[in-house]
Amino acid sequence: MAHKVLIVSGHPALASGSTANKAIIEEYKRLDPSVQVRDLGALYPDFKIDAKAEQEALTQADVIVFEFPVYWYQVPALMKKWFEDVFTHGFAYGTGGDKLKDRVMLLSCTTGSPAGAYTPQGPNSHPLDFYLNNYEQTAKLCGMKYAKPLIAYGMLYIPGVMDEKAKAAVIEKAKAHAKALKSEIDAL
Ligand SMILES: Cc1cc2nc3c(=O)[nH]c(=O)nc-3n(C[C@H](O)[C@H](O)[C@H](O)COP(=O)(O)O)c2cc1C
Repeated sequence: MAHKVLIVSGHPALASGSTANKAIIEEYKRLDPSVQVRDLGALYPDFKIDAKAEQEALTQADVIVFEFPVYWYQVPALMKKWFEDVFTHGFAYGTGGDKLKDRVMLLSCTTGSPAGAYTPQGPNSHPLDFYLNNYEQTAKLCGMKYAKPLIAYGMLYIPGVMDEKAKAAVIEKAKAHAKALKSEIDAL
């Protein structure tokens, strides 16, 4: 069965300040032109989230991909605010709050650090899953299915500091990530 996929993009500046997330979303759109995308940075630069519009978009999808760059071991602030405003009582949880039940939550994220940094011996001390644990619990509380998070490590590109070769490498890895994301969703 073809899934109805919604990508919620948490990058604060996807069009102007992203290499990796932008390339992942562009490639995913190429692979599945029916995908819906909510670009939170473009929709809500003032952080004033239209919860009704977001809830409406969520209820039309059966697989919800949260696409974001890891900022301080978390989702970016705008995406965190999005969860607080959109996953409300009576919608996502509590009495009558069954609107997300059985839908899939799939985290798809990019990091600056390489995979080896997310180990007990590395500077980030723990696997990234450890930091993203609260989303697994959020999915559980809302009756959602939690898919295996898909992580693209080492996606740092700093314009003006790093060269074009570094940028091309990030874009290549982003395209491979989008393909892996499509395969994971197709197999659900
Ligand atoms: C405010 C901020 C915080 C960041 N925190 C982390 C972090 O905790 N761990 C990490 O691996 N990378 C971190 N990074 C690097 C970003 O994750 C990386 O630049 C991003 O995933 C690249 O995606 P983009 O090209 O779409 O922006 C941070 C970057 C910024 C700007």
